[in-house]
Amino acid sequence: MLQQDYTRTEVITVDAVRPEVESIEYAARLLRAGEVVVFPTETVYGLGADAFQPAALERIFIAKERPHSDPLIVHIADEESLELLAIAIPEQARRLASAFWPGPLTLILPRGPRVPYLVTAGLETVAVRMPRHPVALALIRALGSPIAAPSANRFMHVSPTTAQHVLADLAGRVPLILDSGPCEVGVESTVLDLCAQKPVILRPGGISLEALRAVVPDVQPPRQRKIIEDALLKENEQATQRAHQSPGQMLTHYAPAVPLLLYDGSVESMRAAILAELRQRQARGERVGVLVADEDLEAFKQSGATVYSLGNAAAPAQIASALFNGLRALEDAHVQVILCRNFADRGLGLAIRDRLLKAAGGRVIEVNA
Ligand code: TXA
Ligand code: MG
Repeated sequence: MLQQDYTRTEVITVDAVRPEVESIEYAARLLRAGEVVVFPTETVYGLGADAFQPAALERIFIAKERPHSDPLIVHIADEESLELLAIAIPEQARRLASAFWPGPLTLILPRGPRVPYLVTAGLETVAVRMPRHPVALALIRALGSPIAAPSANRFMHVSPTTAQHVLADLAGRVPLILDSGPCEVGVESTVLDLCAQKPVILRPGGISLEALRAVVPDVQPPRQRKIIEDALLKENEQATQRAHQSPGQMLTHYAPAVPLLLYDGSVESMRAAILAELRQRQARGERVGVLVADEDLEAFKQSGATVYSLGNAAAPAQIASALFNGLRALEDAHVQVILCRNFADRGLGLAIRDRLLKAAGGRVIEVNA
């Protein structure tokens, strides 16, 4: 297998609103030469390669240690490029594209004949999205070709929302990172399957179910895959098997390096349960991290835990944008366990709950009295 050791990973600061032309051209030259480049999108940082160069695509899998069974999203900068990638494009796709592109919506469409099977993991469907980050758009245009890009983290780790997160996972494994500061949305794009009988969300993300239904009323919500405690092992086995037909849907996909216990219920019940668990663990000498919202801070002030607030619980956009940074910050604080509250499922809440559930290995502790 190809070796990919870069003595240095270059980090170039790029203006998030008006990207410097020289920096974009430099990155595009690397991509043209068959290299990979990390770039910001409005959701998370992506690890990109020219979608039509199989040898370059291969480098993505090597850098991330990602299995080839997990297909990639192809990023475009204009709707006409859809024709390069997909065939038999349904009318719904056009409506969704004009409503949400550029933006955090990925459409699963019938694969066009030119799309390498490395991109689609051998499937006859392809995932396409038009990001709205000016740096991503400028890079795609400068390359003159669609860019295939997964999130720029090591496989199984939390997606990166800053260049520092990328460095922590991929330093020495990629030649270049374009750094435009923190990503705005903070969770990945919504993946919507338009090849199923009814359009169905495979991964909730930056565009909400409610927003999609305003354009295409019969969009189906993602399948609930919550695990009851003692069924955990069995379900995880099944999830691994399912991953082959429904790639990327493994429950442990976003697992942080530290075990996370996820609580769900009323705000008061979650708080009480977390405090009780915290005290037990502290009595055993454990270092505990707590992932909560601003409204919980008072309750944990004197707790002795490492506390990270994701922001205002009533503002899901705020919680989403802080989520992956919060998980990584607690990992970096070397806590032995993370105790985390849940959030309402309206709007971006569905994506927040999905990522937390995955970080918890699919297990949720119901605490409603
Ligand atoms: O926001 C995002 O979507 C970010 C940024 C970089 O654009 N990208 C991202 O890529 O999250 P990745 O590879 O981490 O996640 C892509 C998801 C996976 O769950 C994958 O299984 C799914 O999209 N996917 C890709 N192609 C698919 C296909 N043909 N059918 C079903 N799912 C597909
Ligand atoms: Mg990913």
